[in-house]
Amino acid sequence: MKQEFGVAVVGSGKWGINHVRIASQLLGERLRMVCDVSDKALAQAKTVAPAVRTTKQLGDVILDPEVSAVIIASGAETHHDFGKRCLEAGKHCLIEKPLALRSTDAMDLLDAAQRNKRILMVGHLLLYHPAVNRIRQEIHSGNIGQVLYLYSQRVNLGTIRREENAFWSLAPHDISVMLYLTEQFPVSVSAIGGKFISKNLPDVVFYHLEFEGGLIAHGHVSWLDPHKMRKFTIVGSRKMIIFDDMESTGKLKIFDKGVGLEIGEGDLLSLPGVPEMQSHVNQLTIRDGDILIPKISQTEPLRIEQQQFYECITKGKKPLTDGQNGLLVLRVMEAAQESLDKGGIPIPIKEMKDA
Ligand SMILES: NC(=O)c1ccc[n+]([C@@H]2O[C@H](COP(=O)([O-])OP(=O)(O)OC[C@H]3O[C@@H](n4cnc5c(N)ncnc54)[C@H](O)[C@@H]3O)[C@@H](O)[C@H]2O)c1
Repeated sequence: MKQEFGVAVVGSGKWGINHVRIASQLLGERLRMVCDVSDKALAQAKTVAPAVRTTKQLGDVILDPEVSAVIIASGAETHHDFGKRCLEAGKHCLIEKPLALRSTDAMDLLDAAQRNKRILMVGHLLLYHPAVNRIRQEIHSGNIGQVLYLYSQRVNLGTIRREENAFWSLAPHDISVMLYLTEQFPVSVSAIGGKFISKNLPDVVFYHLEFEGGLIAHGHVSWLDPHKMRKFTIVGSRKMIIFDDMESTGKLKIFDKGVGLEIGEGDLLSLPGVPEMQSHVNQLTIRDGDILIPKISQTEPLRIEQQQFYECITKGKKPLTDGQNGLLVLRVMEAAQESLDKGGIPIPIKEMKDA
């Protein structure tokens, strides 16, 4: 990788410190600066990147001609303002999720990136997860059959945020994966939630995406839950997959499970989609075969994400999680928020690629 560019990380809090560590490992002295308003966060950054310059002013990042790319990992409420200022100053930007808190702000960022011919990337980390990419391969190869439905559970006790609700904090990851795996944009979204800790912000949200052709996706996010779960389940007509990101090994399991229709000695047709199903209903058979635990690369997804950012800068490539990808996820988020506000009614949405 050519490394003629310098990078700054803005926001070195609980998550941003990981960006500092990985940028330091990948770039060495090319990690030019860490910016944070907190002394504690800056001191922490020094422990993982001792030679890095620190500042409390975003202006220092913007004015440094040797900083040509900025990773923004300050709170979501700062993403639009900081991203816009950096892009207008001619810096490439990797902005943590959510790209912004409103799709109009995300569109403004896309416009700034386009006008200034800079890379705009969003930190939809799971799209760089080797397990998620293996699931996508399984779907593409037809191995799991037709995807019927999928659901995600991202629940824990804490971290409770005051600026955004549990849905905005946690669901962007899962929604980005839902769009990536289905390769579809939902036609409608609904959500219900409960405000148990704060009167204003839901702590638990159940949301539901409907796609054309009957495919459905469901998500559960909460920061008030006894479980600590980060789990995806994908049910196909032939096989089923569980991706459990809390497991240290064996994160992915592919189950040869399903319902089939016996059509002769030892022959099974996978359901659904068998036209004769109605007339052969007595021959339905539960198939409960082998479980495959594929070997998945242990490379940290954040490392892969940053590598992609630097590669896009040096080679002028389009990131997998570009600004448009961030905008699509935001459109789903906004529709879900509207449904939450209206007591759970389904909200129709359109992809509106060029909006
Ligand atoms: N991709 C992921 O898996 C993932 C995981 C966790 C968090 N995140 C995202 O990363 C971002 C940060 O989350 P976090 O958990 O680290 O939050 P955090 O509150 O721990 O850290 C935010 C940091 O930004 C700093 N900051 C705030 N305002 C600033 C300003 N004006 N100038 C400079 N620094 C400022 C704060 O001092 C703090 O150190 C959020 O957008 C969050 O959604 C992403």
